[in-house]
Amino acid sequence: MRMILNDVFLGSGLVYFSSPKMSAYIIGVLVPLVFSLLLRSTRNEKRRGLPADAGGEPGYAIRNHRITSPMKSAWEGISTLAQLFEESCKQYADKPLLGTRKLISREVEVSGDGRSFEKLHLGEYEYMSYGQTFEAACNFASGLAQLGHRREERVAIFADTRKEWFIALQGCFRRNVTVVTIYSSLGEEALCHSLNETEVTTVVCGAKELKKLVDISGQLDTVKRVICMDDEVPSNISLVEGSRGWTVKSFAFVERLGQENPIGPDLPLSADVAVIMYTSGSTGLPKGVMMTHGNILATVSSVMTIVPGLSPKDVYLAYLPLAHVLELAAENIVVSIGAPIGYGSPLTLTDTSNKIKKGTQGDASMLRPTIMAAVPAILDRVRDGVTKKVAAKGGLSKTLFNFAYARRLSAMNGSWFGARGLERFLWDFLVFRKVRAVLGGRLRFLLSGGAPLSGDTQRFINICFGATIGQGYGLTETCAGGTFSEFDDTSVGRVGPPLPCSFVKLVDWPEGGYLTSDSPMPRGEIVIGGPSVTLGYFKNEAKTNEVYKVDEKGMRWFYSGDIGQFHADGCLEIIDRKKDIVKLQHGEYVSLGKVEAALLVSPYVDNIMLHADPFHSYCVALVVASQPAVEGWAAQQGVVFVDFSDLCEKEETVKEVLNSLIKAAKKAKLEKFEIPAKIKLLSEPWTPETGLVTAALKLKRDILKKKFSEDLSKLYAS
Ligand SMILES: *[C@@H]1O[C@H](CO)[C@@H](O)[C@H](O)[C@H]1NC(C)=O
Ligand SMILES: *[C@@H]1O[C@H](CO)[C@@H](O)[C@H](O)[C@H]1NC(C)=O
Ligand SMILES: *[C@@H]1O[C@H](CO)[C@@H](O)[C@H](O)[C@H]1NC(C)=O
Ligand SMILES: *[C@@H]1O[C@H](CO)[C@@H](O)[C@H](O)[C@H]1NC(C)=O
Repeated sequence: MRMILNDVFLGSGLVYFSSPKMSAYIIGVLVPLVFSLLLRSTRNEKRRGLPADAGGEPGYAIRNHRITSPMKSAWEGISTLAQLFEESCKQYADKPLLGTRKLISREVEVSGDGRSFEKLHLGEYEYMSYGQTFEAACNFASGLAQLGHRREERVAIFADTRKEWFIALQGCFRRNVTVVTIYSSLGEEALCHSLNETEVTTVVCGAKELKKLVDISGQLDTVKRVICMDDEVPSNISLVEGSRGWTVKSFAFVERLGQENPIGPDLPLSADVAVIMYTSGSTGLPKGVMMTHGNILATVSSVMTIVPGLSPKDVYLAYLPLAHVLELAAENIVVSIGAPIGYGSPLTLTDTSNKIKKGTQGDASMLRPTIMAAVPAILDRVRDGVTKKVAAKGGLSKTLFNFAYARRLSAMNGSWFGARGLERFLWDFLVFRKVRAVLGGRLRFLLSGGAPLSGDTQRFINICFGATIGQGYGLTETCAGGTFSEFDDTSVGRVGPPLPCSFVKLVDWPEGGYLTSDSPMPRGEIVIGGPSVTLGYFKNEAKTNEVYKVDEKGMRWFYSGDIGQFHADGCLEIIDRKKDIVKLQHGEYVSLGKVEAALLVSPYVDNIMLHADPFHSYCVALVVASQPAVEGWAAQQGVVFVDFSDLCEKEETVKEVLNSLIKAAKKAKLEKFEIPAKIKLLSEPWTPETGLVTAALKLKRDILKKKFSEDLSKLYAS
């Protein structure tokens, strides 16, 4: 594949000098001068985003410094994901692509309190080559047609991340079949709604998801075929086949069927809809976002040009849900560079993960990836895990770790060469090498997205894992397009300049008090424009017209509802969210997200939702207590309790936690009206399975409000 280099490097300011006299002058005088200047203040001088000539609503618009007009594709003549996949498979035919671990044994362990856990012993990664994967996708495409699936009908993929997911996706693309993606953790109502709305006729799923489908089969009028990725199809499935008229086949059967009866491809165009992605929204039923091949390709192209040094030598560990746009884009990027993808899961990621049999290897230490994607919630957990382990070890190890960490932290701002470089090498060898081994020891780049990453966690991962973090900001509606931090930017708390495919504009939001004329930085609602901005919501024109606009030049813009500010170097910082700002009785604005982030610092808090409304002058909060921390405190104080939920009901416990929240609030310099006056302490954690938080662990405020409405009114009443 020929890369379109002009597009990528345009505007990077390369200048050639031809006269020898000039060259001598440059080497002798200018170079040392520039070098000393560079070493002093590179970070402050580098402009990563520049003013953009944008249409539409007036605002403060910024583009990436590499481009003048938004990038559509990084490869000449390639305009769909199907083409990108085919070209890559030809170019890297013999190289490994999809890796899966063989199951050696499955055991059930019973813990002290009688609960049983499944433990897996997994073997080495076994790979399908690029050539084999291409054949599998073609076979699946033919098999699907042979089963009777017509091109204009939609296929849903409802499964955990695994190689069949990717093969089915590419197989559908080869026949211009639109794929509906659904989180495997989605609840019944939302699942029914997504399949109904898109009139899906074929569902591709795993055995676990098949059971869920069977449970709701009575409400699914359009489904005719189910392709099960696992061979062990539940035995009473013939009942459904009889009563609902479904055809249930295994994935392997469909591939074989296609291999024996090949059908030519029916390739899509750039503007055809590739995926309808159902997002587990934080309010109401999920909405389907229609993404064209061109939309996804724009993001894939842009990120590919930003991450430094990508090559077939890289190894990618895939474990996030493929139904999330971040993972979908990431796997297509990996395919475009000719590198392998090793599949894993959050429960088998490390040697100490829940489902890994003691003494055997987790996915990361087996695969030894160089690149991973992660959501901040996962990175926070990694950080907590390392911190706890260090604390548990105590003694000299702890002192050494803390000393090394402090030294590296203070060196972060300085030069990476000379004596400091030597010191860094020393600490890496003595202290951080062991930490790095947790993720295989070769990690060099981490893509983070989905939510803002805390500055502390970013630094921690930088130092302990020696990996650069590319923090992105984007939405499903913009196909993850938006901004992406550059590898040499060591600042924290910002999400970088616009991607090459995106123009990012701030527009005034006077009601919330954010204006582009604000100083020292322009602030406003973040609006994203360019080829990655999707077509809109499926069968929901009203909502689409509300948040998508096309300007006079034909560029599509998406109104994100997030509030941001642009730094002088063209990097964006997310500072607030429109929906999450509430006006109290006396007119003060409370930013729920900001306050929650500040209060989460308390060791007693596992999760927290702040509640504020215009009918009261103060806020209250629902707090999920951290069991180890609260029980630890109770043990120390000699508090007697029956169980954890009993402990959370006790007045003295609530008082202790509230005091700790007030301390955290004061440390973060919150205003008095921002600090919850009363709290309800909860003992049950909020997980995606309970439906109280999204798969990316964002609060579903409306649902939480409904579920705990009684508790909330009690808090206000008392
Ligand atoms: C792909 O499918 C869509 C929807 O069925 C159709 O509108 C479009 O024309 C197809 N594209 C091609 C190139 O046939
Ligand atoms: C799906 O459609 C069927 C029939 O039209 C209906 O009975 C069912 O309630 C619908 N389910 C959802 C979740 O909309
Ligand atoms: C199939 O069997 C499982 C348990 O073995 C049961 O829970 C389920 O209801 C059965 N399904 C049907 C459609 O009979
Ligand atoms: C790095 O420098 C910036 C300002 O230039 C400062 O705000 C920050 O605290 C410094 N970080 C460390 C770790 O010293």
